[in-house]
Order: sequence, then structure tokens, then C-alpha cells
Amino acid sequence: LKIGVLASGRGSNLQSIIDSIKAGELRAEIKVVISDKEGAKALDRAEKYDIANKYVNPKAYKNKENFEQAMIDVLEEYGVELVVMAGFMRILSPYFVKQYRNRVMNIHPSLLPSFTGLHAQKQALDYGVKVAGCTVHFADEGMDTGPIILQAAVPVKDDDTEETLSQRILVEEHRIYPEAIKLFSEGRVEVKNGKVKIRK
Ligand code: GRF
Repeated sequence: LKIGVLASGRGSNLQSIIDSIKAGELRAEIKVVISDKEGAKALDRAEKYDIANKYVNPKAYKNKENFEQAMIDVLEEYGVELVVMAGFMRILSPYFVKQYRNRVMNIHPSLLPSFTGLHAQKQALDYGVKVAGCTVHFADEGMDTGPIILQAAVPVKDDDTEETLSQRILVEEHRIYPEAIKLFSEGRVEVKNGKVKIRK
């Protein structure tokens, strides 16, 4: 499976995918990492593992479609079959989604549909939920919406801070993202009526 990763920041989820491939658990190849942020740590990680990487400057394009087309050009150049958003801090337009429908995944640090958008872990703490978690889903043109592939739950503890809860959730992110990509690579992720079924 040829993967392209979109990342804006630290890239710890990118790292978990790299590690899973290196360990022989995931049969896939990261063909390219694209970032909308110059100097993103995710690009350094790609560089370290000799993965092609590219900064695409959103400000260099006259509109969102042109910016996305520049990313699509790179994804096509590398024959990418699955786009993996790993801390990519932008919502895809219908233009992008149409071309990659059910071929672009996102991870979000909440049990969707709760707590979409920024600071999901803080939103969970502020609400006072007792169970939090993370979700891997196919991305559509909404904010953290689209068919859910995998979720993992963690307890919220009374003395949690945003940091401690985020860390507990992140451990699960690093487990389920490679797992979801593995299921996809095995052709076991089926989308029917907007819902995902995992084939046995
Ligand atoms: C993760 O918490 C992910 O769920 C969210 O953004 C964060 C990215 O972290 N979408 P990293 O860049 O993968 O370390």
C-alpha cells in the first residue's frame, strides 16, 4: 500500500506508522510526507528515514483548491493510494475529498462525534466526561466527520490535566492508527451507507 502522510506538526502519529512498518506489522510504504508548515517536525522525521517530504505553502496559492491541487499533484507523483492525515490542521474541501473519497483517513483525539475541532482533550475535561479516547475515520469535507473506522477509549481520572489526559489518549492513537491502516491495506475496510464494516 502506497501511503502519503499530511502533517502540520510534531508527527508522533507519523512516527508510529513508520515504526509499525519497520517492525513488519504493517505492509505499506510511506511514499511522501507533505506539510503545510515550514520546518514541521514531521518533515524532519521523514528526512531521517529517507522518506520524500515536501512543504507546500498555502500562501503561495490564490485559493484553497489551488493549494490542494498542489498537494494532489505531489500525491499523484508518488502514486499514493491512501492519504493519512496525521495532525494535519486543515479541513479538506469537497474538491479534495471527491478525489480521495474513502481513501483519506484522519485521527482525532476524542470519541467522535463528541468534541470535534481544536483542544478536544480539554473539551472532554471541561465537560466532565469519565471516558475519553480517540477515533480514526475517513475524512470528508466536515470538521472531524466521516465514517468511523476504529476507536479506543481511556478513563478520565479526577486529577487529570490536559497534558496527562492527552498523553493517555496519544498512547492509544499510536496503536489504532497503524491498525486502521493495516486493515485498509488488507482490503478489510468496507464502507456501506456511510458506515464502516471490518471484514473478518
Ligand atoms: C494528535 O493528537 C491527533 O489526534 C490530532 O493532532 C495530534 C497530532 O499529533 N489530530 P502528532 O503530530 O501526530 O504528534
